Amino acid sequence: MASFVDPTRLDPRSLDPLLDRNVAWAQAKTRDDPTYFQRMAETQTPRYLWIGCSDSRVTANDVLDLDPGEVFVHRNIANVAHTSDMNLLAVLEYAVAVLKVEHIIVCGHYGCGGIERALGEERTALVDYWLQPIVMLYRKHRAVFDALPGPQARLGRMCEINIEMQVRRVAATPLVENAWVRGAALQIHGWIYGTHHGLLRDLGPTLSSLAERDALPSIDERVLHPVEPRSSLRRHAIEAFAAGSPSF
Ligand code: CO
Repeated sequence: MASFVDPTRLDPRSLDPLLDRNVAWAQAKTRDDPTYFQRMAETQTPRYLWIGCSDSRVTANDVLDLDPGEVFVHRNIANVAHTSDMNLLAVLEYAVAVLKVEHIIVCGHYGCGGIERALGEERTALVDYWLQPIVMLYRKHRAVFDALPGPQARLGRMCEINIEMQVRRVAATPLVENAWVRGAALQIHGWIYGTHHGLLRDLGPTLSSLAERDALPSIDERVLHPVEPRSSLRRHAIEAFAAGSPSF
């Protein structure tokens, strides 16, 4: 063993441990599959676009147990689909037109700090502009949300409703409309992730055409009437989710 001690190892601010982990990861990947990085370098063919929250606990590849190359990702605070957001639109265009993903998954999570902020009173940061659509929905239906039993229930319900709202916004973009008009096999899903047990839940109808989008109840309707008919497949997912879950 070498007795040399690298001085950067003694500096707690050093990022060398991260770079060391990267080397170990790349070596392990290559050991398991010698042509892995060669294939990765040549092309990416993800079937899914993930639109999620920036929250460090909700990473698409981890919660879906997917490898690099398998999911195209866009994340921002509270997984908001602003239809003037060039970042989102460019990602969406590339995913739909070039990568030809088959599924767009809008995934939020319970306990979202962005949603909690939107439900609070403080409006002093840039993020409050970002969260404005959620704040406006909350103000409009304040009586409904405030009638829920406690702040946790209110936060949980708004996390769900926000996902349903963003699904509608993604489905309303000309990019998605044009893909459906062209006959592309493109589906949009709204999912929620439970940070307390690691499970995903499908929240609502899967959209695969203009007709299905246009048949959706409005987001105001969904706030006022939260219960909807569920398929047996969804019931199964919800039961699995509820098994380890505190009530929301
Ligand atoms: Co969040």
